[in-house]
Amino acid sequence: MKTACSYATTYAASLADPAAFWLAQAQLLQWHTPPGEAIIQDANGFYRWFNQGTLNTSYLCLDYQVQEGRGPQPALIYDSPVTSTQRTYTYSELLEMTARFAGGLRKLGVALGDRVIIYMPNLPEAVVAMLACARIGAVHSVVFGGFAPHELAVRIDDARPRAIVCASGGMEFDRVIPYKPLVDEALALATHQPAHVVVLQRDFVTAELQPKRDVDYQELLRAAPVAAVPVPATHPLYILYTSGTTGRPKGVVRDHGGHAVALLFSMRTVYGLAPGETMFAGSDIGWAVGHSYIVYGPLLQGCTSVLFEGKPVRTPNAGTFWRLIEQHQVNVVFTAPTAIRAIKKEDPEGLLARPYDLSSLRQLFLAGERCDPATYTWAGQLLGVPVVDHWWQTESGWPMLATLVGLEEMPPPRAGSAGFPVPGYDIQILDEEGLPVPPGVTGLVAVRLPLPPGCFPTLWNDDARFRESYLQPFPGYYFSGDGGYRDADGYCYIMGRVDDVINVAGHRLSTGEMEEILAAHPAVAECAVLGIVDALRGQVPIGLVVLKDGHVAGEESLERELVSRVRALIGALACFRAVLVVKRLPKTRSGKILRKTLRQLADGEDFLLPATIDDPTILDEIGADFRRRAIGLAFERTA
Ligand code: COA
Ligand code: AMP
Repeated sequence: MKTACSYATTYAASLADPAAFWLAQAQLLQWHTPPGEAIIQDANGFYRWFNQGTLNTSYLCLDYQVQEGRGPQPALIYDSPVTSTQRTYTYSELLEMTARFAGGLRKLGVALGDRVIIYMPNLPEAVVAMLACARIGAVHSVVFGGFAPHELAVRIDDARPRAIVCASGGMEFDRVIPYKPLVDEALALATHQPAHVVVLQRDFVTAELQPKRDVDYQELLRAAPVAAVPVPATHPLYILYTSGTTGRPKGVVRDHGGHAVALLFSMRTVYGLAPGETMFAGSDIGWAVGHSYIVYGPLLQGCTSVLFEGKPVRTPNAGTFWRLIEQHQVNVVFTAPTAIRAIKKEDPEGLLARPYDLSSLRQLFLAGERCDPATYTWAGQLLGVPVVDHWWQTESGWPMLATLVGLEEMPPPRAGSAGFPVPGYDIQILDEEGLPVPPGVTGLVAVRLPLPPGCFPTLWNDDARFRESYLQPFPGYYFSGDGGYRDADGYCYIMGRVDDVINVAGHRLSTGEMEEILAAHPAVAECAVLGIVDALRGQVPIGLVVLKDGHVAGEESLERELVSRVRALIGALACFRAVLVVKRLPKTRSGKILRKTLRQLADGEDFLLPATIDDPTILDEIGADFRRRAIGLAFERTA
């Protein structure tokens, strides 16, 4: 589906008069009270969209779609090769379940503004729980199932939920992961205790329920249905925690109004999807991609969303995504480059795609990390459709750079580039002083304020951190934490984080947090964690540790201990598997560890010796350590 507008005109209009542009977009939604003034600055000076309007996102995703005649249309197709289950939920069915579950939550005492943590795999019941929270104005916070109890506990203490909704377990390939014991462990660690834990019992693992506190999910589904409550457009819809540079995650807040306006706009213009068409986002509901393009985006646009419980490989093989496309007539796929690399590794010739009719597919969208040109080319040749790398962050909630396939006269995608600024985003590449750099020069990627609707207005309970992390580095701009450049034709390239955040298989993680864990070990005097290039996952973390005087721990046993600490505290998803004991770490004369230089050394990149380095011979020593452990072969390594 294309709108009649050109990219250039639309983009220019969005920057010339953002208020008028977004008010016009807002008219496409059913408001309970009209949005009124488009944008204001609150007492903190933070921008808020559609401050005077009221609406409800659950209503827009479900009730409105049913009123429009989409009741019998599939809203959600649950496809779970790990449990050999497939089930389609129509808009009417999803509405019925959501309205009842919302009634059930209310009976448990969950009220407007209360938080609810959802800790579940990709299940329809998780989507229902999200939409049910939205329905009664409760604020959901979905925590990715791969996070360990400690991480869950940190989120429980920050969000202070009234209830937690979890599944009895999940399935990783053919391994059962019981979730409920992880929730119980997290609650033992947390200070805040929710009044209730709602448990979905799955066939393959039964959770023990604690009397009074724990409730069966099905019981809530038997409650009387409740109507959607109109809430202010600025009312929080959800909190989604993401990694910052320290062990304390950032609670990204999303509101009802701006989010709905932005996602609807993106469904039409970025992805070119019309009502009734089908989107498959191969992600997890625990990530921003899952929130926006498994759940809210497709439903707001009256599309069908494929909810996949499995992996791109080994469930049962690297042809799974291609089967999904044929079977569910998918028009647009969205996944992370790492998923394509995993498929390519197992099926380099793409033989497993051959049996399938992929003619419904129009584009493959990729995000979550930079798409290397080799993966880009391989996917394009295999599928015969445009591959669109596009850039966004949990903070934005929707793409900031893309090739907008729903607009006319859009320059085609180019390998290695994440495309052009999406309407609403005035993207600038700045130097350290905050001045724009010329085309071709790499700098820091920032977005001129105000950010468009849908972007986070602040961090949960932490306006100060919002200001410090994002607004203070460059006054008048949002600082993304990414580095990149724009070429002479206007294409933008995002080259990676410039802070202590890494991307492991599309999962955003904090090396700072891992360093805190290593540093807490009694044998460790100091340490550095780096994200180094990995052929499958894009990046993986490695730890370098200097032992305290007198500690002569064996390298192997210390490595095992530190690896298991990170796994226990953050989760297996961190893929933290290698620790090197080194004599010293390279530092500047003022004592700052030269992490970037270490990373370049490990990746075998050329680098200039930092002028401020205290003792350059340390780099030779560490280089020898990398060779000893076969670290540093970059893309030749396999995971
Ligand atoms: N619950 C429990 N454990 C989980 C989990 C979950 N939801 N997700 C991952 N893990 C565990 C895995 O079992 C694995 O454990 P192990 O070390 O004991 O084997 C570990 O975390 C690493 O998982 P992962 O990185 O997913 O490795 P994998 O080999 O299982 O799969 C990929 C590799 C590339 C196929 C997979 O990471 C993938 O599909 N990535 C796409 C990511 C994505 O969609 N990102 C969202 C942004 S769009
Ligand atoms: P997350 O908040 O988990 O979505 O991660 C956001 C980070 O992922 C960004 O800051 C980038 O570092 C990276 N990222 C996402 N999409 C892309 C892309 N298309 N190209 C390069 N990096 C990307």
